Amino acid sequence: MADEAILAKGSVALVTGASAGIGRAVATGLSARGARVICAARRLDRLEDLVAGLPSPALAFELDIADGEAVDGLLQRLPEDWRQIDILVNNAGHDLGGRQPFHQRDAADVAAVIETNVTGMIRTTLAIVPGMRERGRGHIVTIGSVNGVEWTANHSVYVGSKFAVHGFTNSLRQELQGTGVRLTEVMPGLVRTEFASARWLGDEKRAQEFYDRFDAALAPEDISDAVHYALDAPAHVNICDLVLRPA
Ligand SMILES: NC(=O)c1ccc[n+]([C@@H]2O[C@H](COP(=O)([O-])OP(=O)(O)OC[C@H]3O[C@@H](n4cnc5c(N)ncnc54)[C@H](OP(=O)(O)O)[C@@H]3O)[C@@H](O)[C@H]2O)c1
Repeated sequence: MADEAILAKGSVALVTGASAGIGRAVATGLSARGARVICAARRLDRLEDLVAGLPSPALAFELDIADGEAVDGLLQRLPEDWRQIDILVNNAGHDLGGRQPFHQRDAADVAAVIETNVTGMIRTTLAIVPGMRERGRGHIVTIGSVNGVEWTANHSVYVGSKFAVHGFTNSLRQELQGTGVRLTEVMPGLVRTEFASARWLGDEKRAQEFYDRFDAALAPEDISDAVHYALDAPAHVNICDLVLRPA
């Protein structure tokens, strides 16, 4: 089993933040390849719509990764034959109230960014890694950001969160060496999704104006393609970092 391709018909994948943007595209792409995808996020209605249209068996799974207890007990809440997770895509994340000077930030929004992008992602990984290690088989793909290695002004909290993702991912990858569990970080530049709208609490006009300021943006499917590239590498190859920017 350990030598079989990680992404194959019947593999089990957990995708966090599957209700929109990159996560939705990743879940769709994995399902098209025959994986059984657990589509997780807070908006269950959206997940149910997504799952209804997927070509392989899939689960809509309500999960707030900032809710520690829910994350710690997530495996127990899954049907028994969905608990042996082969692929974890740590995608859920946001920049609530971001892109403004730090001294004007709301403390609760700042905490929510860290609790989701950092603590939630790490805690989700902690819920899944022991089983992967036991089985000697697994691939974790974490969606970081180019903001995990570079920064701009008025972006300190999000940048700080993605630097944390980058450090955590690199350290854990080293630790998992030789266990059969691989870890890839996909680091996109600008992707046109609902991210800006979520940042500004559903202000679509402001979100569209933000994206329109840039000459080009990636599409969520571009990130899904990168995830497939990492998963499809032969078992002896660990694709560590993939940086994608709009051309
Ligand atoms: N868009 C970009 O330019 C860009 C660039 C680099 C990296 N990224 C990263 O890519 C990832 C996905 O972002 P996106 O662009 O696809 O944004 P998006 O369209 O806003 O989607 C974000 C997803 O995360 C979920 N989410 C947010 N908080 C959550 C929580 N506490 N628990 C569970 N799910 C949660 C949302 O679902 P619910 O609201 O239903 O929970 C949604 O499905 C993020 O980690 C982001 O930092 C984005």
